[in-house]
Amino acid sequence: MNIETKCVHAGEGADTITKGLNTPIFPSSAHEYLDAEDLAYPRYFNTFNQKVIVRKICELEKAEDGILFSSGMAAISTVLFSFLKAGDHIILQDEIYGGSHAFVEEFFERFGISYSFVATNAGAIESAIRPETRIIFIETPTNPLLSIVDIKEVAETAKRNKCITVIDNTFATPINQNPVKLGIDIVIHSGTKYLGGHSDLSCGAAVTTLDLASKIRKTATNFGGNLNALTCYILERSLKTLSVRVKQQNENAFQTAKFLNHHSAVKNVYYPGLSDHPGHAVACDQMNGFGAMLSFELNDSNLSADNFMRKLSLVKPAVSLGGIETTICDPARTSHAKISPRVRARQGITDSLLRLSVGIENVEDLIKDIDQALEI
Ligand SMILES: Cc1ncc(COP(=O)(O)O)c(C=O)c1O
Repeated sequence: MNIETKCVHAGEGADTITKGLNTPIFPSSAHEYLDAEDLAYPRYFNTFNQKVIVRKICELEKAEDGILFSSGMAAISTVLFSFLKAGDHIILQDEIYGGSHAFVEEFFERFGISYSFVATNAGAIESAIRPETRIIFIETPTNPLLSIVDIKEVAETAKRNKCITVIDNTFATPINQNPVKLGIDIVIHSGTKYLGGHSDLSCGAAVTTLDLASKIRKTATNFGGNLNALTCYILERSLKTLSVRVKQQNENAFQTAKFLNHHSAVKNVYYPGLSDHPGHAVACDQMNGFGAMLSFELNDSNLSADNFMRKLSLVKPAVSLGGIETTICDPARTSHAKISPRVRARQGITDSLLRLSVGIENVEDLIKDIDQALEI
């Protein structure tokens, strides 16, 4: 099956009672067990509706098995604590989602785990490897500056050094990028974003090999962070339209990035689909589409990021991303507020940086709204 068909049909659960076309919702948290092969329980990550979603995401990401969580951070924290112990070392890109960055900085020292934040390139990652390095964690395109790292190169470096590779594939989505095919071991999503796609649910996923998934599931069973059946159902309905949504969002983002790139009130447009983006060639190689996230800075000191956002009417200033509606935020006050101004400056996240999550509206309407807000 091609990916569009998988979005609609992969993993679906049969309704044997009414012959309805949709997967039934089984909300029970208690199940009879005397004659059951498996003890079904939501926190064991093995209930019917959880399994349906895992099968679908595995098909989309070309992975063998996975675990569905109640948030992206539940997925990230559980995966990292599944493989790290005191004395181990992890390498992460400096430019990753602020919540992931803050999690590592706040918690790892306490558990005796050392870490290195490095520049977004495979060479910097390789140079940081130590004998005790266990995990290499990457995010590409990055949040919020849309930097690109060569996934295949990182995966090869990791294999040579016997490290596990983990990627946060949230920005790309399985439609635009399949890291398993490029040699990555574990693919994580904040499903709160594109997988859900309608700004109305929170979830996360980690998909990988059978062996690594069983290790993650063991940790997850202790940590919790499972998703309920009703949300699983909403997520399944969302995933059916993932490919049409993302393809339209890719196209709208490309048009919007081109518009911003030519606007005199705008400087530094960050979008991997633009030919002058430093990661463009690698993105062309490893992505099927450039995604719908882009960032930019305003050129004129008479128009602050806050004033610009207040002038928008169709585009909504909002925390989170990946919905069908176009939203905007300034990462310094939102997604990256938890990391220090010093680290933000090192990463290139200025107070005037704006991050746009482009939706499925008519792109001319979007551009008209942005254009009027840019007028001083
Ligand atoms: C790239 C990325 N990864 C992970 C997360 C965390 O996801 P969640 O908010 O679902 O825990 C986010 C949230 O913004 C994100 O942007």
